[in-house]
Amino acid sequence: MKTEIYEVEPGEYNLQNYDERYSNFDWKEVEQAFSWHDTGQVNMAYECIDRHVENGRGDKVALYYKDASRNESYTFEEMMKKSNKAANVLKQTTNVAKGDRLFIFMPRSPELYFVLLGALKIGAIVGPLFEAFMEKAVKDRLENSEASIIVTTNSLVGRIPVDELPNLKHIVIVDDHVAENHIDFNKAFEGASDEFDIEWLDKEDGLILHYTSGSTGQPKGVLHVQYAMVQHYISGHYVLDLKEDDIYWCTADPGWVTGTSYGVFAPWLNGATNVIAGGRFSPEGWYSTIEEFKVTVWYSAPTAFRMLMGAGDELIKNYNLSSLRHVLSVGEPLNPEVIKWGYKVFGKRIHDTWWMTETGAHMIVNYPSMMIKSGSMGKPLPGVVAAIVDNEGNELPPNRMGNLALKEGWPSMMRDIWNNHPKYESYFLPGGWYISGDSAYMDEDGYFWFQGRVDDVIMTAGERVGPFEVESKLVEHPAVAEAGVIGKPDPIRGEIIKAFIALREGYEPTDELKEEIRVFVKNGLAAHAAPREIEFKDKLPKTRSGKIMRRVLKAWELDLPTGDLSSMED
Ligand code: PRX
Repeated sequence: MKTEIYEVEPGEYNLQNYDERYSNFDWKEVEQAFSWHDTGQVNMAYECIDRHVENGRGDKVALYYKDASRNESYTFEEMMKKSNKAANVLKQTTNVAKGDRLFIFMPRSPELYFVLLGALKIGAIVGPLFEAFMEKAVKDRLENSEASIIVTTNSLVGRIPVDELPNLKHIVIVDDHVAENHIDFNKAFEGASDEFDIEWLDKEDGLILHYTSGSTGQPKGVLHVQYAMVQHYISGHYVLDLKEDDIYWCTADPGWVTGTSYGVFAPWLNGATNVIAGGRFSPEGWYSTIEEFKVTVWYSAPTAFRMLMGAGDELIKNYNLSSLRHVLSVGEPLNPEVIKWGYKVFGKRIHDTWWMTETGAHMIVNYPSMMIKSGSMGKPLPGVVAAIVDNEGNELPPNRMGNLALKEGWPSMMRDIWNNHPKYESYFLPGGWYISGDSAYMDEDGYFWFQGRVDDVIMTAGERVGPFEVESKLVEHPAVAEAGVIGKPDPIRGEIIKAFIALREGYEPTDELKEEIRVFVKNGLAAHAAPREIEFKDKLPKTRSGKIMRRVLKAWELDLPTGDLSSMED
């Protein structure tokens, strides 16, 4: 398909001349936006909330929260006080201290954000967990991080295998009717003081721990530090184009990195009004959220846009979406058809952004002041050096496909893989290149084009799933002898998870068994990690050392050549 080129829509954008800004950019200059530049006292929660109160913007709405049963708003001053109260509750009931890992495992609610900011005010490292995680997923993450505190709800607490987690000391419940052996957050919150002495930190102190998947091994704990705020702030300014009177809505859950970097930090560092909508996806619910809060800047994902597209354009006519001025996407390739559709129904081009859990913030993006080549991820953020390199770290010329790589040294880069430093080091090639695991090429104008993952990581509905985690769960089922898991292309979800399974002796390959195995993964790991398709095989393709060859499974599935089979057993 011929690339469509869309010229810049006229507007007063925060970043006007990309090329000029890129060439004279200096991170040190951006640091001056923060109070710690002068005081040396760093705390993300302070910069997100309290600073705006001190600067006379306390009455401005910081948060609009909405779900099926609640519709509330909080000013920056209220957010400051509520997060102070949460900090006092956590400190008094659990004695949590700087550097402790505190996990938050609950559906979205205003309290989730009070707890998150409160924990940051104490200097704890926050581990947010997506509410769909089941026992194994929860256990792996708490165990690896040696978390001592988890904040959760009555409906989720049963998924925490307390007896198997010796480091876990405190369970805080944000709910009514809290059992005696747990800490009752709401009760303590009522009486807590709304003043709190913030723990001042160093720029390199821990901030947040997001677990994410690779193609091998257990999920990895990606550690980010306070200094990441420099990049959260400037990308919020340049890419989200946030201004004083914007009403901003990011649809991601804080269990994923988009829901923290761009659901909490970037909007509040920029002093914007942040909309948070709880509950599940529904086209009607989403359009009415835009209409009700007059959302101006909207950040979502290709799968969601494709689902909205599937719901039909007639529906849109029932809503007034004219407040929208800037729409962005992340997480998977953004199809040119979706950009076209977005223009037809919202009157706006959807702007693609590329980054990863590990990079902590935007890396390669489409700025509102830059023409869009539809299908391209755009150009690097000022301060970010991106290139296409070969497997030895040599830069490749334009239009050659290779590893999408980033030069070490951007502020929001992860600082470690928790409890696995060798894994962290394995991301780098000589020359200081961080290797993303994506393949791409760069055209002669410096636009980057995504081609695929180099490894077996699956992106399903924008969520990153490691085949190993799913395979490990599958083989726990008594009928499963061996399992190999791949991503299969899907028009809505990008990819779906497909599992190939060899059964143990004595089991019949029936449809009932397929369903039973699917439910087993769904209830044991997470709904989004359960295979949508299962195929039974007598035998799976393996290397002589016994590793299942997912690439061969994928080739079979897609009717592609299987490539070099010399390492395959018989
Ligand atoms: O393969 C790329 C894909 O998502 C991966 C990162 O996943 P995760 O760490 O879960 O972070 C997702 C949101 C920050 C990348 O290696 N990806 C992300 N954005 C895009 C993308 N693929 C194509 N186009 C994008 N814009």
